[in-house]
Amino acid sequence: MKHSWKYEHAQRYFKHRAELYDVKYIPKGAEELSRILIQKAEIKEGDFVLDFATGTGFQAVQIAYAVGEKGRVLGLDISKEMLREAETKIKRLGLDSVVKLKKMKSDTIPLEEGSVDAIICGFAYHHFPDPYRVTAEMFRVLKPYKKAVVVDGCRPEHPFKKLIADLSVKISDRTWHIRFYTENEFREFFEKSGFKEVHSWCFYQTHCLLYPFIMIEGTKHHPSTQDA
Ligand SMILES: C[S@@+](CC[C@H](N)C(=O)[O-])C[C@H]1O[C@@H](n2cnc3c(N)ncnc32)[C@H](O)[C@@H]1O
Repeated sequence: MKHSWKYEHAQRYFKHRAELYDVKYIPKGAEELSRILIQKAEIKEGDFVLDFATGTGFQAVQIAYAVGEKGRVLGLDISKEMLREAETKIKRLGLDSVVKLKKMKSDTIPLEEGSVDAIICGFAYHHFPDPYRVTAEMFRVLKPYKKAVVVDGCRPEHPFKKLIADLSVKISDRTWHIRFYTENEFREFFEKSGFKEVHSWCFYQTHCLLYPFIMIEGTKHHPSTQDA
């Protein structure tokens, strides 16, 4: 499989970070970011929501509260150690009837076309071997007029800022394998996959001033109006 080393790299990377992930990597105020993601994705009670690359389930838990007992959240991830942490947390919070977890690779989402009310994907695009394919899969499984919202680190266009961002990722990853994508690259992933009304925002978070973050959303129009 093309770029299969990227899957293995991500699995190795998170294997040793899973246990302390929430305390080390989830910043204070992250609930507020989740709230914005949920609002932008227009998630409501009773929805079926996909949390792509769910990790330790931080977003999945917030989404579960938003969809309520009648809703469903599916958290997909490639790392069994991250999913184990998610499972423990979800059980502890009594959310296991709402949130289901599944280990998978990102190239094929195990869901039928047009079956999902909303998709959230947090801080994972820079690990994906093929971000176009992931975005196209998200588009496929969404119901018409529903939204996907993604947040991740963003590679700035400015040469100096780009260098700082690239170095930050390399130092934290301790390899030269991965990098963030620029806002334009993100927009291309969405637009080439068929999403309409693609909006993106770049912003800095106070806990990390070395690189900006991007939030991007896209809507799947009805197939008959896709070209409009
Ligand atoms: C930085 S964590 C983010 C977790 C969570 N979305 C959050 O916001 O806290 C990135 C997650 O992406 C997962 N991941 C990386 N590559 C993946 C792939 N190709 N397919 C599915 N999940 C992947 C990792 O295992 C990890 O749990």
